[in-house]
Amino acid sequence: MPAQTITSPDDPRIGDYRALTDVELRTRWEPPNGLFIAEGELVISRALRAGYRMRSALVDEKRVAQLTDLPAYCPIYAANQEVLESITGFHVHRGVLASFHRREIPDMSEMLGNATRIAVLEGLNTHTNLGALFRSAAALGIDAVVLSPTCADPLYRRAVRVSMGEVFAIPYAKSDDWPGTLTAIREAGFTLLALTPGEGAIPIGSLTPQQRERPALLLGAEGPGLTGAAMDAADARVVIPMHNGVDSLNVATAGALAFYEIGR
Ligand SMILES: C[S@@+](CC[C@H](N)C(=O)[O-])C[C@H]1O[C@@H](n2cnc3c(N)ncnc32)[C@H](O)[C@@H]1O
Repeated sequence: MPAQTITSPDDPRIGDYRALTDVELRTRWEPPNGLFIAEGELVISRALRAGYRMRSALVDEKRVAQLTDLPAYCPIYAANQEVLESITGFHVHRGVLASFHRREIPDMSEMLGNATRIAVLEGLNTHTNLGALFRSAAALGIDAVVLSPTCADPLYRRAVRVSMGEVFAIPYAKSDDWPGTLTAIREAGFTLLALTPGEGAIPIGSLTPQQRERPALLLGAEGPGLTGAAMDAADARVVIPMHNGVDSLNVATAGALAFYEIGR
């Protein structure tokens, strides 16, 4: 389909792409309107491969001829960098943005039934950490991710970008009953392992084969860490031993190490 040229940032056809740097506005607006934004050819191709349906693409007019893999079923809009920047609020140096339809979030119990190893994220409200965790989870054999109600949106543009599109590779569901969902996870046959740098936790290397069999790795937010309710709900508290008096790891780093260790 030939690209349609956009010359004004007020053009109603590119409403999906307005004010992309306004995190608060976008995070309030995108989920109820059923869309998300992906940036760059690689991430867009991963969204398409995962079966997400594109609404439209917005491209740098200099790149139009090179972007031959965009689906023919949706409109492609082209603009110069100046117009792109006034629409989105930033310099679109990847040259291509696409708006996608969200899908139904999977049913929690069905998702748990199909999984062996899961990550459970509590209060993860930093998009970069969320994206990094999904990327590691996909790479290191985690089958599904459960998000507490206070977690950020994994389909927010920055999370999608940091995950390199791996948010599309792993099913996730958001709890609406916290910490009740933790009980449901245990009832589904998982061993709840609370990852914590706090005292009294067992080193991750000493988990028993039984504890490793069907693990749910529970990770908390930067700053507060896991809540008391989540810690109380866990079957075991687990630490990744640290050196040099360091008090904790970044949550995405802790997640990656735990996913690797549990999958060995
Ligand atoms: C920056 S830490 C939070 C630190 C917080 N003061 C605490 O005591 O939990 C963020 C999350 O990363 C995980 N984490 C960080 N370092 C860890 C370690 N050494 N062992 C196990 N989990 C760790 C935990 O899940 C934690 O909730």
